[in-house]
Amino acid sequence: MTDETNILAQLEQIQQDALMRLETIQDESDLQAWRTAHLGRSSAIMQVFSGLPEVPKELRPQVGQRANQVKQALETALAERNAVIHQSSLERSLRNERMDVTLPGREPIQGRLHPATQTLRDLYAIFAEMGFQVYRTRDVETDEYNFELLNIPAYHPARDMWDTFYTSTPGVILRTHTSPGQIRVMREYCPDPIRVVLPGMCYRYEQISARSEIQFNQLELMVVGRNITFGDLKGTLNDFARRMFGENARTRLRPSYFPFTEPSAEMDVECFICGGKGCTICKGSGWLEIMGCGMVHPTVLQNGGYDPHEYSGFAAGLGPERIALLRHRIEDIRYFWQNDVRFLEQF
Ligand code: PHE
Repeated sequence: MTDETNILAQLEQIQQDALMRLETIQDESDLQAWRTAHLGRSSAIMQVFSGLPEVPKELRPQVGQRANQVKQALETALAERNAVIHQSSLERSLRNERMDVTLPGREPIQGRLHPATQTLRDLYAIFAEMGFQVYRTRDVETDEYNFELLNIPAYHPARDMWDTFYTSTPGVILRTHTSPGQIRVMREYCPDPIRVVLPGMCYRYEQISARSEIQFNQLELMVVGRNITFGDLKGTLNDFARRMFGENARTRLRPSYFPFTEPSAEMDVECFICGGKGCTICKGSGWLEIMGCGMVHPTVLQNGGYDPHEYSGFAAGLGPERIALLRHRIEDIRYFWQNDVRFLEQF
């Protein structure tokens, strides 16, 4: 065998060998190893190139040309194999990672409004229709606003109606009702007429039971203007009761006492659980108490900046939790602030 045939046969062998191995390669990392082995710097074909200067001069062009062809053939084959492997790995991942869109979805956990908030919002909506604005005041109050300015001086026996949480700062307390907001709203609006609802949390230092909690919401109503009468109070509250409890809701006013209203009353609605016949919820009376109310006391009007000879007004305070309790027939007020999702999820 001449040098020429020898070296050309060797190139042929290099090509066959490399291509044969390439056939068996299935993945990208093996392909990378193949490239290093058969096209890398110390591969057989590259050795041929670097050995070219030793090849006899007359054979060099032919050997060089053939070596180039072999290298080209290997590179083309590599590219083709690469494409095949790429395609099949794509197909594999498409097959394995396929989503089954017919599977049932996972339902996200949905939060909801607290039943007290729901009732408050219903109340806002009703009173908005009746022309009332929402006016917010503070939870932390002074003794002056919570009691003094509402005609309840320190020695007054009526203070017993509101067992109070005191703070370490003298004269600063947690409001026991939303009525101090009456003074705040009057002092801001005076001498304009007022038609507002004052919502918010109230706090009382009381024994917790099925019927009373140490914290609860109240919604205060206040109307001040010229010629506001007890008839306006009754008409407004009856209208509210019908919007809240239905067209056929029956109500009654019972005389009562609050230091900041004169005269004072309490409003009952006919028990819609027994229809007025008497049951455990209404304690056999057929009526449910829903709010305290009355004509704003002249002293209180004056403390708010209004001249009681020219102005008059009425106020009322109702408990949204009380109403929620009645609407949903919840038998224990303590559920409201226990944060038990089994309870809260039902609304
Ligand atoms: N503030 C009174 C209470 O907490 C309720 C009330 C408000 C009564 C307005 C009359 C007028 O019991």
